[in-house]
Amino acid sequence: MPASVILGAQWGDEGKGKITDLLAETADVVVRYQGGNNAGHTIVVEDERFALSLIPSGVLYPTVTPVIGNGCVIDPKVLLEEMATLRSRGIDPSRVLVSGNAHLIMPYHRKLDAVIERYLGEAMIGTTKRGIGPAYMDKYSRFGIRVQDLFDPKIFRKKLDVALKDKNRQLTKVYNQLPLDGEQIFDEYMVYADQLTEHITDTSLVVWEALERGDNILFEGAQGTLLDIDHGTYPFVTSSNPTAGGAAVGIGIGPNRIDHVIGVVKAYISRVGTGPFPTELHDETGDQLIEIGGEYGVVTGRRRRCGWLDAVALRYAVRVNGLTEIALTKLDVLSHFDSIKIATAYTSLGERYTEFPRQQRVLYNCVPHYEEHEGWNVDISEASTYEDLPEQAKRYVDRIEELAGVPIRTVSVGPARAATLERKPT
Ligand code: GDP
Ligand code: IMO
Ligand code: MG
Repeated sequence: MPASVILGAQWGDEGKGKITDLLAETADVVVRYQGGNNAGHTIVVEDERFALSLIPSGVLYPTVTPVIGNGCVIDPKVLLEEMATLRSRGIDPSRVLVSGNAHLIMPYHRKLDAVIERYLGEAMIGTTKRGIGPAYMDKYSRFGIRVQDLFDPKIFRKKLDVALKDKNRQLTKVYNQLPLDGEQIFDEYMVYADQLTEHITDTSLVVWEALERGDNILFEGAQGTLLDIDHGTYPFVTSSNPTAGGAAVGIGIGPNRIDHVIGVVKAYISRVGTGPFPTELHDETGDQLIEIGGEYGVVTGRRRRCGWLDAVALRYAVRVNGLTEIALTKLDVLSHFDSIKIATAYTSLGERYTEFPRQQRVLYNCVPHYEEHEGWNVDISEASTYEDLPEQAKRYVDRIEELAGVPIRTVSVGPARAATLERKPT
């Protein structure tokens, strides 16, 4: 059985939760490999809506083992709350496994995330303020505290004291904040340790054993390609690697164990937070995309910036991830437009670009070249087969496939599981 990565091909919020949940019906294991509770993945099951931030989207199926890999950063308070919420809604979270090598988000990470953003002023990234960046900073500077440390109180206390000495100096002397109390953090985290102990394991081994058994495994990305710390629009990115390579590292498997890489692509594009966005619409059409598409953040409630589909960025996502197929979402949102555009190239600083520019200055000045497509102006959210879609909609999908150069096998026309159409290879 295959192992597939499902990842965001744009700036996040493409509908990864919906697509992962759908594919999880026949999966045995679903693994998150990076990010933390900056993610907000929505799943709609009949009239129920679930918003998951840390727990993999496969959790709704009792047959799936949900795994949080070493590449993630974990706020234990949020993880336990998410488990409690699921429990209260009749979903059993006891199967959730967490890597002992994942790093912990500590209270000083959350605090620093907020004050650094304030300090940056106009240059702010618009983070989710969940402590993600500061937690990864500590991981890479080797100041990090890992999940496994929770179970050795002496070591935990030592690491906490070393980190806190440095963080409190930063908080008080650089950012003019009150210091945090080590005793209080220690006590709080020891309670989390008790509650989490049965979930912690060597998840790399668990996934390897599943691969050896021939299980069907999904690796669920958070955020998206253009938010990748290496391949995204740096510095307006997240602090991890949502791109496909991140899955091997963030789980602890060889890259040769990945069979498919499914890119989730919204039929238009959105971005939350600051940073360059070539096809952003500042007009009424942009407002319509936001309102019709319900483009408000799952985690922060922030209004997402919206624009037409960017095929330059899409081809880039195909390349840096090695996408083998695309799941196209929210096609129904475009039913309301007489004409729909796709950007196929940019002009910036007097030059024409057909490949995604690597230079920040170039990217900021990009003016998209659009091709225009006729809209279909009928509701497609009730369509039951791909063939039922209006010709204009099918032409739009065909064109995206042609521009991307990889097959579009799934087309989503609504938030619910049933609003998903299988598209046969052309
Ligand atoms: P994720 O972070 O990639 O999982 O995406 P989000 O959950 O943050 O945002 C996607 C939003 O679009 C959610 O509210 C979904 O319920 C919704 N959604 C997903 N697919 C479709 C679709 O095909 N049509 C419509 N109208 N909404 C969708
Ligand atoms: P899902 O998984 C969209 C954005 C933030 C900010 C930048 C850095 O739901 O697609 P961070 O808190 O990660 O340090 O913020 O990344 N961002 C997301 N945007 N979807 C997400 O997740 C995001 N997670 C982070 O808005 O611009
Ligand atoms: Mg989201």
